[in-house]
Amino acid sequence: MESRNNMNLNLEDLLGAQINIDKNGMKVIRLSDVKLPYLNNNSVYVKRLEPTYFAGDLVYGEFRNLCRIHDIAPDYTVAPYALIVDKQGHYVGYLMEAVAGEDLEIDKRKLMLPGEAREVRSQIVSAMGLLHSKGIGHGDLDYSNIVKYKKDGQAYIKLIDPAPSLRRKDDERNIREDKKWLKSMMSDYWEDRDVRFTSQWKQAKNF
Ligand SMILES: Nc1ncnc2c1ncn2[C@@H]1O[C@H](COP(=O)(O)OP(=O)(O)OP(=O)(O)O)[C@@H](O)[C@H]1O
Ligand SMILES: [Mg+2]
Repeated sequence: MESRNNMNLNLEDLLGAQINIDKNGMKVIRLSDVKLPYLNNNSVYVKRLEPTYFAGDLVYGEFRNLCRIHDIAPDYTVAPYALIVDKQGHYVGYLMEAVAGEDLEIDKRKLMLPGEAREVRSQIVSAMGLLHSKGIGHGDLDYSNIVKYKKDGQAYIKLIDPAPSLRRKDDERNIREDKKWLKSMMSDYWEDRDVRFTSQWKQAKNF
């Protein structure tokens, strides 16, 4: 209990606002407390979602899935901080760790050397292997939803922007979608880059 309080305190320091636990047991911050300077100091990423997402709890579902993915694969997932709640009580977005890097959209992928591409691929495969073994999927795997950053010359990935998960059949669907994407990715992305097929690639094909 004490460690949980400490964690909340650190988060409150980071966000400069009060964190509450709501009826769903989620950490929430009021919209009026969300501070724009987060966007400038590279520490917190603010994600606002469209009103169509408020109904049906899709914001909650996305954040919930991100939390579960982070619990299972913290090294490969952006850290979720808190849901943002408006005056009407709608979840309108969430706050998370800001990654000092860029997503893997096509132009950026082309800049990768084969060694780095191999490393990135291996991390994607490891992350998805971990998640799927626990019955959880990302569900919206895409180059734009994987962020790469460098530390001491080494490349690392973090997953962002998962599909919502509100019930068990969502997890099953998300895993199916991940497998489809992994299969296509492993040919169109990596073969082009002259990366040799490794056992990890074969493992991914069998997901
Ligand atoms: N935590 C983060 N750190 C760094 N960059 C991020 C982060 N979250 C998002 N980005 C960048 O912003 C882009 C868009 O973010 P995101 O994928 O969450 O939204 P989206 O695809 O527009 O939303 P959605 O599909 O949920 O409607 C990402 O492709 C990535 O480049
Ligand atoms: Mg996205």
